[in-house]
Amino acid sequence: MSHFAQVARVPGDPILGLLEAYRADRNPTKLDLGVGVYKDALGLTPIPRAVKLAEQRLLDSETSKSYIGGHGDALFGTLLSQLVLGADNPLLESRAGTTQTPGGTGALRLAADFIGHCLPGRGIWLSDPTWPIHESIFAEAGLRVGHYPYVGAANRLDVEAMIAVLSHLPQGDVVLLHACCHNPTGFDLSQDDWRRVLEVVKARELLPLIDFAYQGFGDGLEQDAWAVRLFAEALPELLVTSSCSKNFGLYRERTGALLVCTADAEKLQDVRSQLASIARNLWSTPPAHGAAVVATILADAQLRTQWRTELDGMRRRVASLRLGLVEALRPYGLAERFAHIGVQRGMFSYTGLSPSQVQRLREEYSVYLVGSGRANVAGLDAERLDQLAGAIARVCAD
Ligand SMILES: Cc1ncc(COP(=O)(O)O)c(C=O)c1O
Repeated sequence: MSHFAQVARVPGDPILGLLEAYRADRNPTKLDLGVGVYKDALGLTPIPRAVKLAEQRLLDSETSKSYIGGHGDALFGTLLSQLVLGADNPLLESRAGTTQTPGGTGALRLAADFIGHCLPGRGIWLSDPTWPIHESIFAEAGLRVGHYPYVGAANRLDVEAMIAVLSHLPQGDVVLLHACCHNPTGFDLSQDDWRRVLEVVKARELLPLIDFAYQGFGDGLEQDAWAVRLFAEALPELLVTSSCSKNFGLYRERTGALLVCTADAEKLQDVRSQLASIARNLWSTPPAHGAAVVATILADAQLRTQWRTELDGMRRRVASLRLGLVEALRPYGLAERFAHIGVQRGMFSYTGLSPSQVQRLREEYSVYLVGSGRANVAGLDAERLDQLAGAIARVCAD
């Protein structure tokens, strides 16, 4: 008897399949706009200098590899919550706490299990579209998953439709919001839009879960935290998932946290006891290295300045590539049609290219985008924007 006879094969992650096709492509001018990692002008995903310096310090100073506690590195937790909520936020005194997790994905998984275990019957509402892993994480945790409109068929942010659906959600349900740099679309809410969403959240007594995976990649570290801080100030309870993968370049070190705000200090301890217990069954204790790197950087004025400069550089590169591509499309009469690429924020852009146009770009020009038309703008080559604009113009002409 084979124990595994009934085990069927599931399809792999389509974005990773795209990467394999890209690697096998021999065209020297090929362009990978698929996988969601930052790339520099050389097409590399660098380790920030601040990270390297912190790692050197840790190599000399680390004295033990014993477990860190269930909530992770305490200094990391304190400094990360300051980064998210603002250093002088009064909530930090007793109403907010972080639990360190393996990346932002771990934080989402912990949040999903917390909702499932401790808030039974609550559904979760995701933007349509959203990062595909949101769909599977919450479904796997057994939650009822629903969707609110976000970007419609015309490739435009549809706030009216979003508000209309949120206004009728079951009282007490959880709504997942992207703090900034919406993945996959790149369309972010304006401050006015956020205020309107907050009013609906209050009126329907919804619990917001804000996914904050790109702090510093949109308009700046502080600017990107604006909505999180607005919600934290206005509401007694909030969940925020934070990732250090992109802004610290720590992708494979799996560094993130679930931040919880509660109505009072007593309730914070109840919630944190549950989180530690759930995490114990998921990964026992979190990995130490990435969090130690982040804590070392944030606690040291010089390293912190170095990191902020590098993060600013990453953000500026993406912003200038966005505008550069729109300008490169101008001679083809397409600047208006693709103006949204300059308005969107973060690494991703819903370009508005159709699946067949995406396919032609891949087959005829070795330009690799996700089938939805999502492009990783950081993958663009500033020296070859004209070439890409020409290819886009040709696939749009037919
Ligand atoms: C919207 C969103 N949330 C969370 C994550 C989690 O990132 P990680 O688990 O690598 O920290 C990502 C990464 O791509 C993301 O795009």
